[in-house]
Amino acid sequence: MSDLSTRKDEHIDLAKDAEALAQVPNSLDHVRLTHQALPECDADDIDTRTRFLGKPLAAPLMISGMTGGSARGDAINKLLAEIANTHKLAFGVGSQRASLSQNNSQSQLRALAQDIPLIGNLGAAQLIEEGGLTLALKAIDDLAPDALAIHLNPLQELVQPEGDRAWRGVMDMLAKLVKSTSTPIMIKEVGAGLSVKAVTRLRDIGIRYFDVAGLGGTNWARIENSRTDQRRQDIMAPFMDWGIPTCQALLDLRDAVNDIQLIGSGGVRHGLDVARCLWLGADIVAAAGVFIKALEAADGSLHPDQLSHVLDIWKDQIRVAMFLTGSSNIKALKEADGAIAPLS
Ligand SMILES: Cc1cc2nc3c(=O)[nH]c(=O)nc-3n(C[C@H](O)[C@H](O)[C@H](O)COP(=O)(O)O)c2cc1C
Repeated sequence: MSDLSTRKDEHIDLAKDAEALAQVPNSLDHVRLTHQALPECDADDIDTRTRFLGKPLAAPLMISGMTGGSARGDAINKLLAEIANTHKLAFGVGSQRASLSQNNSQSQLRALAQDIPLIGNLGAAQLIEEGGLTLALKAIDDLAPDALAIHLNPLQELVQPEGDRAWRGVMDMLAKLVKSTSTPIMIKEVGAGLSVKAVTRLRDIGIRYFDVAGLGGTNWARIENSRTDQRRQDIMAPFMDWGIPTCQALLDLRDAVNDIQLIGSGGVRHGLDVARCLWLGADIVAAAGVFIKALEAADGSLHPDQLSHVLDIWKDQIRVAMFLTGSSNIKALKEADGAIAPLS
């Protein structure tokens, strides 16, 4: 197995550990949707459907990119694609770098995710390496995704012993990529959030899809810190919970940047958090850590029924939140009453 595949497999183990979560209060707990004692809608008539990337979804939910390119990663992705397709939710693969570098095609996922938005994935750090643009186009060619996500993870890379430290030129390469393909490009963080400044600049070069992946859930500084050297641990110690909390990122972007599709993610724990993110301005909501923990037990055995059960519960929780806010559809939920406790 290549070093890249081994690292991706290690990431799955580390992300399932309790230590992998941000050690700050989850900012989504600051959102209080207002209870409506007079809902004026029927609990069994709540409509959670929406559209994303031109396709219908049963609920505004996405399984975020995590893996691919190793036997274990491919087995996980196959199940995630099948489950997402059955539930009619969006699904993203993890970085395609490992699979592409081994000529290990992931094209079979497109057949499993026929009816849903499928999102490819590559790191910005790879995009600016020699041959980066060609690699991105190969990623699109291989998966035939509905969008290609480019992840921005400067904090994670800085903690990694083998991490990429050169980040100049990402904007130029993204602008070239946007011009080189008709597949929509999505930008995502991995747990430290996207700022208004970054999103505005990227919107100005034609990017329309942004997954905030804010602080509050899976924490890559903490995960990578457990595998780095002592000197780097000492340097990075104050930055373990660095980042923009998910609630803050969504609020800021909703007010400041028009004409984009926002994906709310980073510490989403249940269907009420999904409803909170939608109310904060997200168009759809994504999660990763919670889903891999449901799918893969500590001993590595895979339990698709367990993940399917969690998704059913989340969909019901979204419906409960919508009913109790008097929102019969997603548009109404976005306009429902609510309040945000001050974010410290
Ligand atoms: C095991 C695991 C592997 C991940 N690998 C990738 C990846 O390859 N590319 C990427 O863009 N994000 C990756 N992520 C980040 C997620 O897509 C997501 O943005 C982040 O974990 C925040 O969501 P969460 O708090 O619900 O986990 C990974 C997350 C997990 C848990």
